[in-house]
Amino acid sequence: MRALLIDRSAPTGLRLGEAPDPVPAPHQALIRVTATSLNYGEVRFSLQEAPDGAVLGWDAAGVVVRAAADGSGPAVGTSVVTLGIDGAWAGLRAVDTGWIGTVPSGSDPGAVSTVPVAGASALRALHRIGPILGRRILVTGATGGTGRYAVRLAALGGAHVIASTGDPEKHGESLRANGAHEVVAGPLEVGEPVDGVVDLVGGQQLVDAYGMLAQGGTLVAVGHSAHQGETFPFGALFGDSGRHNRSIATFSLPACTGLAPDLTWLAHRVAVGELDPQISWRGSWDRVAEAVDALLERRLHGKAVLDIA
Ligand SMILES: NC(=O)c1ccc[n+]([C@@H]2O[C@H](COP(=O)([O-])OP(=O)(O)OC[C@H]3O[C@@H](n4cnc5c(N)ncnc54)[C@H](OP(=O)(O)O)[C@@H]3O)[C@@H](O)[C@H]2O)c1
Repeated sequence: MRALLIDRSAPTGLRLGEAPDPVPAPHQALIRVTATSLNYGEVRFSLQEAPDGAVLGWDAAGVVVRAAADGSGPAVGTSVVTLGIDGAWAGLRAVDTGWIGTVPSGSDPGAVSTVPVAGASALRALHRIGPILGRRILVTGATGGTGRYAVRLAALGGAHVIASTGDPEKHGESLRANGAHEVVAGPLEVGEPVDGVVDLVGGQQLVDAYGMLAQGGTLVAVGHSAHQGETFPFGALFGDSGRHNRSIATFSLPACTGLAPDLTWLAHRVAVGELDPQISWRGSWDRVAEAVDALLERRLHGKAVLDIA
């Protein structure tokens, strides 16, 4: 099969070449991949660390070409969206059926390929906060792939959504169009306490956002884009003066169970246009270097999608 292979001699560390076809385990279906979307974590970390010849990639959309031998998962010919810890940047992918969502036929595979990591992480982080209808929810890193899903989903769930970005002037309009009720330049600009935070930046922004939590509020620490530690000033964790019972929850999408129905639900919302995947770069997978550079240089502010021939 054709695949994007790790090749340390190539400028971005990737080369389009030939790799052995994957051999599915009994609980895996074989997927013909038609599109993949890039995520910060796999480009920033996995791409730097994987050995030569490895095939990376978490998100892929495509069609089932061989159903799982154990009878689980979708039938041959079903359009699907898939999550895995590797193997998405290839013409064929073997995927655990618990990480496969089904997609309405005729959907744009590029659009639904944005769902697994960004969409499902945003959804599960909001679930972790608890009921959001009528509540104030802050999303930091709101212009990123995951942040834009979190803003839209929180708005769909009836929350008052506050989107935080480093550049409100540049991104305010698109964030409001995506569902944000307020756009701020950081958690300290939030006027009133918030009931929940989806934090995609970490570092000082996490500390500041925690300080804005109302009694009983939850901050879900999903992302760490700032690459900073978190140091809380003395008194920040006191529970007095209306600050009782606030919490921070750590997060890992691969550790979440029961993801297949969420992938299906999200892909359907994308397919009917209720969720805009906010694609800010799209091209053939032979242009992967452009997409990787844009993502690492913080020029994307949305999802990058590679169409796979
Ligand atoms: N734990 C999990 O399972 C899980 C799942 C999904 C994502 N994540 C993590 O969540 C984070 C966001 O992922 P993503 O795919 O949405 O990334 P992304 O598309 O690169 O977006 C990140 C956003 O954060 C802001 N940002 C980036 N670098 C920053 C910095 N140095 N300081 C302050 N803000 C910065 C940027 O917004 P502005 O420029 O507008 O401020 C950017 O749009 C990443 O750390 C990713 O690894 C974790």
